[in-house]
Amino acid sequence: MAKRFSKWVAPEIKHGKPTKWNWLVLYPDGLKLGKNTDIGAYTLIVAKYGVEIGDNVQIGSHCSVYSYSTIDDKSGKVVLGDNCRIGTHSSIMPGIKIGENAIIGAHSFVNKDVPANSVFVGVPAKFICSVDKLYKKRKAKIPADH
Ligand SMILES: CC(C)(COP(=O)(O)OP(=O)(O)OC[C@H]1O[C@@H](n2cnc3c(N)ncnc32)[C@H](O)[C@@H]1OP(=O)(O)O)[C@@H](O)C(=O)NCCC(=O)NCCS
Repeated sequence: MAKRFSKWVAPEIKHGKPTKWNWLVLYPDGLKLGKNTDIGAYTLIVAKYGVEIGDNVQIGSHCSVYSYSTIDDKSGKVVLGDNCRIGTHSSIMPGIKIGENAIIGAHSFVNKDVPANSVFVGVPAKFICSVDKLYKKRKAKIPADH
């Protein structure tokens, strides 16, 4: 994948205050943020029980990353592995680990661990294929004279 930033600067994060890019963290002491991460506007990260975001992770807008969910009284550290990508409007539940390079489709509800290099989509999110297979399928769709 192409490098997305020539110069990346760690954002200033304060409890309950939107960052410069309009995403929000609650309990930022619990957040470990990797380098070259890209987080979309209106994403909420509840880091009370720990949220670890690896390098080069991309999170779309309007996502929720919960290490604490009061509705179903769940808590646990969330880990988003290096290079993983989370589609817009997705929710990641407490205790979930998303493996490196994984892709989560838009509008997914992730309530089970996602192995590295796999693509999960839907509510609840389920495996559809490996990242390799997704790329191969995409290449096959491009006309030869393109
Ligand atoms: C998951 C994703 C990466 C797959 O993209 P793709 O390579 O173009 O693959 P396809 O569209 O061929 O999808 C593969 C299959 O998964 C299904 N699918 C794709 N995304 C889905 C989603 N979010 N929820 C449910 N099903 C989905 C497709 O319908 C297709 O099913 P089929 O094989 O039965 O037809 C893409 O659909 C997606 O959700 N991207 C997120 C984009 C985003 O959020 N951007 C904004 C932030 S930058």
